[in-house]
Amino acid sequence: MNTVRVNLGSRSYDIYIGSGILSRLGSWVREVSSGDKALVISNSTVFALYGETVSRSLAAAGFEVVDGEMGDGEEYKSLATLEMLYNLAFKHKIDRQCPVIALGGGVVGDTAGLVAATYLRGVPFVQAPTTVMAQVDSSVGGKVAVNHPGGKNIIGAFYQPRLVVADMTTLKTLPLREIKAGLAELIKYGVISDAGFFKWLEENAGKLLSLDGTALAHAVAVSCRIKARIVEADETEQGLRAILNFGHTVGHAVESLSGYKVFLHGEAVAVGMAAAARLAEAMGLIPSEQRRRIVSLLSQAGLPVKMPSSIDLADVIAAMRQDKKALAGRLTFVLPVEIGAVKIFNDISENMVRDALFSQKY
Ligand SMILES: NC(=O)c1ccc[n+]([C@@H]2O[C@H](COP(=O)([O-])OP(=O)(O)OC[C@H]3O[C@@H](n4cnc5c(N)ncnc54)[C@H](O)[C@@H]3O)[C@@H](O)[C@H]2O)c1
Repeated sequence: MNTVRVNLGSRSYDIYIGSGILSRLGSWVREVSSGDKALVISNSTVFALYGETVSRSLAAAGFEVVDGEMGDGEEYKSLATLEMLYNLAFKHKIDRQCPVIALGGGVVGDTAGLVAATYLRGVPFVQAPTTVMAQVDSSVGGKVAVNHPGGKNIIGAFYQPRLVVADMTTLKTLPLREIKAGLAELIKYGVISDAGFFKWLEENAGKLLSLDGTALAHAVAVSCRIKARIVEADETEQGLRAILNFGHTVGHAVESLSGYKVFLHGEAVAVGMAAAARLAEAMGLIPSEQRRRIVSLLSQAGLPVKMPSSIDLADVIAAMRQDKKALAGRLTFVLPVEIGAVKIFNDISENMVRDALFSQKY
């Protein structure tokens, strides 16, 4: 098993990464919580697959388990679900010592995290992520949120978990498309901060796609270590943490313009990373060879790298200006200056963006 420590003073925690470790969840939760009940938040799909393993493990550690089942899908990351879960917690007399455990992907993790952050002004929170995306990104770093009709992740908080348990075995039931979308996040970490890891991904993408447990655990551990170091330096995104948004300026626009239905988050980010690589090449920041390596690794992982022709450039620019992370409506991009290092650029011209978005270069 790999352990990655996130060092945040009194809010520090461990990420446990391995195969078949979900059955040990209860004893680890017991180390971070003295409560007599545990509220397990999951969705119908993941509960059916792993609910019993988790419940049994928690019961063996002396917790009475309360099932908090929410719907499966981004549309359930909502205020209505939050209210349903608060009611459940209240009904079962969840107190300040009782842990809230997120069992599932990023939708479950973000929603459960906001419940944990706000119910009784905060109860212990544990993440048991079951998608690649959640294991390497959303479960680490403490961003929790639900959506508002006005936009994604509008209502949220920074609230760190006490513990993260990432079991590679759970990925065996994840649809292949979700695995590929998760690989986009791994590639992101390689480009933004680790050229050696990027090269490892070029050589091992096939193993990851065939769910080799050792390769997955290595990739998840390296990614969590990179994210942990960034979050340690800038927990509440005042500066450095923004580099995690590599590929997201365009990615968010693609997601929102397609109504969050056509692309998975990782797929939209892949389109955004390819566009950012082309933009960096056009600006003379990286040589063609490095742009080609970035775009071809994305393709090798089975991810889209082209803007869908149904999306209009003017709409993309408008969406990027409205993104909640845009500064005063300026077009801000995280761009590679080499594979393994990025910088943040403000005020990129619309012409350059257009050329990068609709370029056919590979
Ligand atoms: N908090 C953060 O820092 C952060 C970062 C990135 C993304 N996010 C959020 O994460 C969400 C996306 O998360 P996601 O990509 O994990 O999607 P998801 O949570 O919707 O999960 C994808 C699908 O896989 C299913 N599933 C999950 N685990 C499974 C398993 N082991 N076996 C079979 N099916 C399984 C789910 O039921 C769902 O249908 C978005 O809401 C996004 O905003 C948050």
